[in-house]
Amino acid sequence: MNVILLGPPGAGKGTQAKLMEERYGLRQLSSGDMLRAAVAAGTEVGRAAKGYMEQGALVPDDVVVGAVFETLEMLNGAGFILDGFPRTPVQARALDEKLQQDGKRIDWAIVFEVDDEQLVQRIAGRYTCAACGEGYHDTLKTPRALGVCDRCGGTTFKRRSDDNEETVRKRLAVYHAETKPLIEFYRQGGKLRRIDGERPIEEVSQAVDQVFAESAAATT
Ligand code: AP5
Repeated sequence: MNVILLGPPGAGKGTQAKLMEERYGLRQLSSGDMLRAAVAAGTEVGRAAKGYMEQGALVPDDVVVGAVFETLEMLNGAGFILDGFPRTPVQARALDEKLQQDGKRIDWAIVFEVDDEQLVQRIAGRYTCAACGEGYHDTLKTPRALGVCDRCGGTTFKRRSDDNEETVRKRLAVYHAETKPLIEFYRQGGKLRRIDGERPIEEVSQAVDQVFAESAAATT
């Protein structure tokens, strides 16, 4: 199974991708995580991406497509979850061509729908475990033991530099202008599933499970 997660910043793509990895043995490929790692490592991709990311703008298509395709090549046939890619029609068409060449396809493009004001609140309180990347929120999702990661026991956490209200509002404007049209692209291709992302994390996850269950039923 190969899945695309669409949806605005803070909609829960990363949160649900982690749960899907655990439940279905798929590999999460987050373009944002790839780019942040490249920035931290000071690679050519990172140097090209840094300024755009800090401003909440999209990184140029050729830079992102190159980075994501390189990672896709390393999957050795494992099913994947594309988290945050594609984000423009150019990226979506490039992905279609690549998968066709590789004899693969996207099964579902799942979009998590959440109101903009709720997204600003979510992102402003977000932090992650520095060791395993598990996501948390100051009030919406706290670790069971304060200061200790539920997943790996890590005790160091970090916040993203672009998770401030001004940059989040820019990222939302970019989403509406450049990425939202992809919903129609995948709807026309018969791949789109919409999920109400405003429900609690576990309920959103159950809605994802339902998409997987229907797919499994359709292939038996
Ligand atoms: P990226 O890292 O992809 O960020 P994003 O799309 O803005 O998405 P986020 O990671 O902010 O949100 P999310 O949907 O994963 O939400 P999360 O699960 O964390 O991109 C960053 C930058 O990189 C871009 O601005 C761009 O510059 C560049 N970039 C990346 N990909 C690119 C591409 N393809 N092309 C060009 N440029 C690209 O959840 C958020 C918070 O809410 C968490 O605290 C979580 O605990 C909480 N939460 C989650 N679900 C729920 C729920 N159901 N109820 C309550 N709280 C919830």
